[in-house]
Amino acid sequence: MSDLLVIKTFHLLGFAGCLSASFFKNLLLRRPAIEGPALSRLVGLDKLSGGSSVVILATGILMAGWFAKPTGFYLHSPLFWGKVTLFTLASAAILTTKPLLRRAKAEGVLRPAPRERLVMMFDFGSILVIAMLGLWLARALA
Ligand code: HEM
Repeated sequence: MSDLLVIKTFHLLGFAGCLSASFFKNLLLRRPAIEGPALSRLVGLDKLSGGSSVVILATGILMAGWFAKPTGFYLHSPLFWGKVTLFTLASAAILTTKPLLRRAKAEGVLRPAPRERLVMMFDFGSILVIAMLGLWLARALA
């Protein structure tokens, strides 16, 4: 298997991890209160999306820097910068929910406010758009 194929497979695994974690977090956040096993599940999903984001970022940098098309192609592509910008915005939005999750773990309950629900919906939508931009980049001729 070529290096690019291995890296791409991990990029896609990271995508699957992020997307499924975000989907199930969105479902959980529809409840008025999350506690007990559901809260542990939410914390687990948060770890899954954090780990998956690290894999996505590392493999994305490897592809853009060395293993896929020439780096200049990406640096001159608005699609690439759109992908990176949206990834940064979605990651920053998720980071703002971390203190809340820490507090919920200490108190044993999370009562999601509209803001947290909105952040999670933004995260899910961003992942889909970022993936679409990735598909365009992969299919574009260098
Ligand atoms: C949630 C975040 C992300 C998702 C869901 C995602 C998803 C994808 C997908 C589905 C592809 C198409 C793979 C294929 O079929 O060939 C792709 C390609 C790509 N991604 Fe990402 N990606 C994300 C973040 C990033 C980041 C942060 C970077 C760079 C720092 C990056 C760099 C790339 C590059 C360079 C390609 C194109 C490879 C090629 O030209 O063949 N991705 N991405």
